[in-house]
Amino acid sequence: MKVSVIGTGYVGLVTATCLAYLGHDVACLDIDEKKIEGLKQGQIPIYEPNLDQLLEDTKKTNKFPIFTTDPKIAMEHGEIIFIAVGTPPKENGEPDLRYIEACAKTIGKHAKQDCIVINKSTVPVGSGNWVYMLIEQANPKLNFHVASNPEFLREGSAIFDTFYADRIVIGADENFARAKLKELYKPLIEQSFTPPNYCPRPHGQAHIPFISTDITSAEMIKYSANSFLAMKISFANQIANICDLVGADVTEVMQGIGTDSRIGGKFLNAGIGWGGSCFGKDVQALIKIAEEYDYNPELLYGTTNVNYKQRNLVIKRLQDQMKILKGKKIGLLGLAFKPNTDDLRDAPALDIAKALIKLGASVSVTDPIAAENCKKQNPDLEVNYVNDPYELAQGKDALILVTEWDEYRKLDLEKVFRFMGGSKILLDGRNIYSPVDAKKIGFNYISIGR
Ligand code: NAD
Ligand code: UGA
Repeated sequence: MKVSVIGTGYVGLVTATCLAYLGHDVACLDIDEKKIEGLKQGQIPIYEPNLDQLLEDTKKTNKFPIFTTDPKIAMEHGEIIFIAVGTPPKENGEPDLRYIEACAKTIGKHAKQDCIVINKSTVPVGSGNWVYMLIEQANPKLNFHVASNPEFLREGSAIFDTFYADRIVIGADENFARAKLKELYKPLIEQSFTPPNYCPRPHGQAHIPFISTDITSAEMIKYSANSFLAMKISFANQIANICDLVGADVTEVMQGIGTDSRIGGKFLNAGIGWGGSCFGKDVQALIKIAEEYDYNPELLYGTTNVNYKQRNLVIKRLQDQMKILKGKKIGLLGLAFKPNTDDLRDAPALDIAKALIKLGASVSVTDPIAAENCKKQNPDLEVNYVNDPYELAQGKDALILVTEWDEYRKLDLEKVFRFMGGSKILLDGRNIYSPVDAKKIGFNYISIGR
């Protein structure tokens, strides 16, 4: 099928590349000329494992997408048009919909008759209607359909999450769009495609459930899914803090409850809490929707409050141990909001670094992938960048594990201990090291809820 994708960010580019790999003819539109020029050469502007390889593989079947900044070329191409632009939070917590608005106008101006416009961006309830209205205003003569197809991929495992999704949700108010989308996703639903060798089909992978709803419910599904996941983590963190008070071990407690199939063991890792471009933004957006209807979403307030307090907890723990942070040398292991991404949006590392600097500490940081982005995006952040964890350890008073990159899991902690010299606090913000081993080496080891 002929597909156009507006926005070549984390979601748009992954969606476009996966659809091209599945055999569709894809055209991608972005306003960022540099990005598009790079993509034409197969250069991926983000760090997402194997995405470069997948894009390269589309050449084998002559399905390498068209990349363009020309809206006419991109819009005249697609019978299906995905909107996958950003919906970042405004100061008041509502999502900024100006990029969606621009897309709707572009579609109205250039799209062809009978196209189906799919909102893949995460948008507030009512956005389906609103996008319909904007396109109609831009071109009253255009016959078109609007549907919602929320995206559930995670950064760092985006190809896997697309090819082997837990479900595909389509919100549509009529059958035409629903049937077309079912056809588009048939290779995924039926798992009939040949997987690339770097993303093999998991053993026993069954058909992907196709969930069909009205547009408003699809929009609510996306916000509810992210809010629930965020709430699960905040729950684990709240229990971790109680574990610290009573002397229990939160990892054991979460294992004990996660094995209950009604609860499930995923997203119960306690630590310094969630970050990233979506959990904070989407919980906040759902709060705003509830408030519009004069409803008090207490669970959502709690989810947010618990999360951001976890970042302060790190500072408090260091103060408990070191008393004065002024003049202390502190190293942060990891900057990205989670491993396997270069994304720093709402990254806990940034808040922790700023708080330490404010208290007069000297802060050094390292990250295998996100350091360059951090330098570019935060030119005023007064931290010292170093290349690797052992260099980071040199002469530090404390190390804080912020992002649990695989290489940090495999650190030679004895070497780290030797390199630190003097006082040796290891604050494990993701509970990845064994407290027994770390203490045996001689660290003053602190973790969350253990
Ligand atoms: P992003 O910021 O990485 O990418 C957005 C892209 O859209 C940019 O390349 C930008 O240049 C482009 N753009 C903006 N306005 C445009 C226009 N008028 N025409 C063409 N291109 C335009 O965003 P993202 O992380 O991919 O998120 C996109 C949406 O998907 C958001 O609503 C987000 O909440 C949602 N989402 C994101 C993820 C994720 O893991 N990042 C997962 C699920 C859902
Ligand atoms: C999240 C959701 O998992 C995706 O389903 C969704 O599509 C996406 O948001 C989105 O809407 O953008 P993502 O933000 O890429 O994906 O990353 P996650 O793996 O969900 O992690 C989010 C944050 O939670 C990270 O900071 C991670 O360190 C933290 N986390 C995760 C925990 O603190 N504990 C856990 O048990 C799991």
